Amino acid sequence: MKKSYILIRNQLILLFTLLIIIATSNNLFAASILDIGSTEPLALRKIMSDMGKNMQAITDGISHENWKQVKKTALQIADHPQPPFTEKIRILSFVGSDVSKYKEHDQKTHDTAITLSQAATEKDAYKVISVFSSLQNNCLACHQSFRKSFLEYFYQ
Ligand code: HEC
Repeated sequence: MKKSYILIRNQLILLFTLLIIIATSNNLFAASILDIGSTEPLALRKIMSDMGKNMQAITDGISHENWKQVKKTALQIADHPQPPFTEKIRILSFVGSDVSKYKEHDQKTHDTAITLSQAATEKDAYKVISVFSSLQNNCLACHQSFRKSFLEYFYQ
């Protein structure tokens, strides 16, 4: 009786040890694949920084009434690159229940950039300026809701 008790106990210890090994190696795997604890800047930052430059190019285009340039650059904003898959997972898991809000900001920015490119195609200067201002508001809205918490979470 006592012997079988020890046997079961040893088997349980073995089982728990195995579970712990599996759990921790999974975490290591997750950490490396998801880049957890990385201090590298997000790819998102470079994408954003490029969109900032695009906005400057659009202001320039408006000053020179170069609607071709405005159109081209607005489309670059509309089709801005996406962060790599693993970074997307990091971002979406951080954003959590606000994910639809975050995606809505991104979608609105996309749609407004398309409208801006159409206004530029029509060479409608006043419309271009008014839609450009909406676009700036779209950028700002997401920044006001998310930027501070991103900086705190990904770069503390
Ligand atoms: C869906 C949310 C969202 C939208 C929409 C958005 N941004 Fe951002 N933006 C962010 C976040 C989050 C950061 C902080 C990223 C970081 O520092 O890693 C940021 C940072 C930036 C930065 C600073 C980059 C740097 O080098 O520190 C610039 C410039 C920028 N955004 C421009 C824009 C422009 C221009 C638009 C609109 C055309 C825009 N963003 C729309 C979320 C957004």
